[in-house]
Amino acid sequence: MLVGIDESGRTARYGAELNEIGTLENAWLLTNGNRIKDYGSMDCFEEVEGCGVLDAEGGWLFPSFCDSHTHLVYAGSREQEFLDKINGLSYEEIAKRGGGILNSADRLHDTSEDELYRQAMERVNEIAAMGTGLVEIKSGYGLTLEDELKILRVIKRLRNDAPLEIRSTFLGAHAVGRAYKGRQAEYVEHVCNDMIPAVAGEDLADFVDVFCDRGFFTVEETEKVIRKGAEYGLRAKIHANELAVSGGVEVGVANKALSVDHLESMGDEQIEVLRSSETIPTMLPGCAFFLSIGYPPARKMIDAGLPVALASDYNPGTAPSGNMRFVVSLASIKMKMTPVEALNAATINSAAAMGESRDYGSITRGKVANFYITKPLPSLAYISYAHQTPLIKSVVLKGKLKI
Ligand code: NIG
Ligand code: FE
Repeated sequence: MLVGIDESGRTARYGAELNEIGTLENAWLLTNGNRIKDYGSMDCFEEVEGCGVLDAEGGWLFPSFCDSHTHLVYAGSREQEFLDKINGLSYEEIAKRGGGILNSADRLHDTSEDELYRQAMERVNEIAAMGTGLVEIKSGYGLTLEDELKILRVIKRLRNDAPLEIRSTFLGAHAVGRAYKGRQAEYVEHVCNDMIPAVAGEDLADFVDVFCDRGFFTVEETEKVIRKGAEYGLRAKIHANELAVSGGVEVGVANKALSVDHLESMGDEQIEVLRSSETIPTMLPGCAFFLSIGYPPARKMIDAGLPVALASDYNPGTAPSGNMRFVVSLASIKMKMTPVEALNAATINSAAAMGESRDYGSITRGKVANFYITKPLPSLAYISYAHQTPLIKSVVLKGKLKI
C-alpha cells in the first residue's frame, strides 16, 4: 500500500484537508536517481531493465517524516535536570538557577567540534532509522559568536555527510550568554551586529529563530533580531508561546515568519492572527509531554482552517527524542488529531515549515524519493496506535536504500 500520494501541487494542507490522504493498494513505485519517477497499481507493473527491485512484502510505504524543529547538535545530556523536575522544579526555575540552556552552552563550550559532530551524527542516524528524511537543526547552545559558529559548522558538515536532508537555523537569541548576564539589550545588539553578519558571511544558516517567551526575549527584541536576519536573507522561525502568551505569534506573523513554533499557550486571538497569514503553526507535543505542561489547542487550530505542522523539538532540556512516530501518536492521544491529520502535519506541512514542500513531504512524481516501508499493517491508524512497536523495516533516502 502506498500512503501519502498527492499530485495536487499543493504546498500545505489547510484545516479539513489535513484529514484526507491519497493511498493506492497493491502498488509499485519507481525511483530515478534521487527522485520519485512514477508509481502505479501492480495490475500494470512492468519490470524496468537494469533496475533493482525491493519487495515490500505486503508492507506499507509512507513518505518520510519532515521534522521542522530540532536542536539536535548538543553536547552530552541533562538528566540531572530531569531529576530536578521530578523533585518539583519547573523548567523556568531550573533556567533561572543557571541550568537549562546555559548548562548546555557550558558543556558545548568544553566539547571539541569533532566530538560534537560525532554525537550529533549519532542522533541524525537514529532519526533516519525512525523514518525522518528532512530535518531542521538550530544553533543556540553556543551563545558566543565562536560557539554559535562551531554548532553551525557542525550542522554544515552533517549536511554534507548525513543520509538525510538538513536545513540550518541560527538561534543566537535562545538565552542571554553568560558573559552578558544582566545586559540582555547588549546581547541582542551583539546577536544583530556581530553574529548574524558572521553567520551569513559563511553562509551557515537558512533561517533565524528567537526564543520569544516569558523570561527569555521580548517582542521588541525578537523583532530586532528577525528584521536583521531578513536583511541577510534569513527567514524567521520563532519559538513562541511555550511558557506564556508571549506576543511571539503576532510578531512572527507581522514579519512574515515561515513558522511559529510551540504554541502551548494560545488564545483565540492568536488563532485569528494566524488565519490571515501564510505562517505555519508548528506544534511540538514531545515538549509538552516531557515538561508535563498543557498541549497546543490543535483541534481549534485545525477547525479554524490552519495548516498545522508537527515537529519533535529534539533537544536535551525539553524533548530528548526525535522519534516522529511518537510525536504523531502524541498528537492523536493528547491533542485529538486523527492519525491521518497527524501524518500530514508531520510530512507535507512540516516540509512547508521549512519552505521545502515542493520537494518533500508526500509521494509525488518528481519529489525527492524519501520514504520508509513498514511491516504489513492491519490499517493506517495502526502506525500511530501501536506507538512503540518497531514497524519500520526499510528506509529509502534520496533514492538510496539505507536500512
Ligand atoms: O524548544 N524553548 C526553548 N528551547 C528549547 C529547549 C532548550 C533547552 O532547554 O535546552 C525548546 O523547548
Ligand atoms: Fe525548540
